[in-house]
Amino acid sequence: MDLASRLSGRSVLVTGASSGLGAHFATIAARSGARVAVAARRHDLLEGLLAELSEAGAAEAMAVELDVTSEESIEACCDTVFQAFGDLNVLVNNAGIATEGWAIDQSATDFDNVMGVNVRGVWLTAVAVARRWRDAKAAGTVINIASILGDRVATGVAPYAVSKAGVIQMTKALALEWARNGIRVNAIAPGYFATDINADFFDSDAGQGMMKRIPMRRIGNLEELDGVFLLLATDASSFMTGGVIPVDGGHLVSSL
Ligand SMILES: NC(=O)c1ccc[n+]([C@@H]2O[C@H](COP(=O)([O-])OP(=O)(O)OC[C@H]3O[C@@H](n4cnc5c(N)ncnc54)[C@H](OP(=O)(O)O)[C@@H]3O)[C@@H](O)[C@H]2O)c1
Repeated sequence: MDLASRLSGRSVLVTGASSGLGAHFATIAARSGARVAVAARRHDLLEGLLAELSEAGAAEAMAVELDVTSEESIEACCDTVFQAFGDLNVLVNNAGIATEGWAIDQSATDFDNVMGVNVRGVWLTAVAVARRWRDAKAAGTVINIASILGDRVATGVAPYAVSKAGVIQMTKALALEWARNGIRVNAIAPGYFATDINADFFDSDAGQGMMKRIPMRRIGNLEELDGVFLLLATDASSFMTGGVIPVDGGHLVSSL
């Protein structure tokens, strides 16, 4: 059985699905025939994505407004999705933001904003979903979207790097606690992919210089995330939990 067909009829919630990687993960799930809920703050973009998801083959597609900095919004989103689908099999914890600038110039608010979305938001969403799985005695799979910057570092992105290190450690800690409940927690650590989060960077001198330091000498294409996503979203990874998989053209093994 191929990986995509293992997701057919399963239900998937993707946070931060209004653009970039999140919209792409939703599309992979749709192509596999899953029921897909896309969540983010920009509801108009989510509504626009619904037709594409249906066309791609989603068994069902729904858009839910979500702000992961608000516990109330996360609870409301989970209630809506569990009620509409009757269950949920996969949570893709993808919503994230970045700040740029030297650490010494970052304000407390800059730092709090990144932690609020990338760490607290990922934590609260995982816990809200896992509580529902535990109460229903249901199994489930969480895929956290970390970054290679949760492992290696770069200048100008310190709070982001700290937050993604938090996501990696959170993935391991939650995997350890939830394995007994049949809940698996793994992470994808992407290298560089062109999206709104880094739109101007790759055109800059710094961006061009960075590209030369990637062993494969290029940034990734979104399609190059499909395999790892389907592996972690399906029971093809049934004995994997607490894992962090880089998809980065070899960036993490380079010391440059
Ligand atoms: N692109 C890369 O090279 C790369 C590399 C490594 C890791 N990542 C990670 O991949 C994830 C997606 O990033 P991306 O590159 O696709 O960037 P993006 O296009 O800017 O997408 C970020 C998504 O997060 C959502 N979001 C932001 N704040 C939110 C909030 N408070 N509540 C709910 N949703 C929120 C945004 O939706 P709304 O604004 O509509 O809410 C948007 O859909 C992030 O976690 C990022 O750190 C990206």
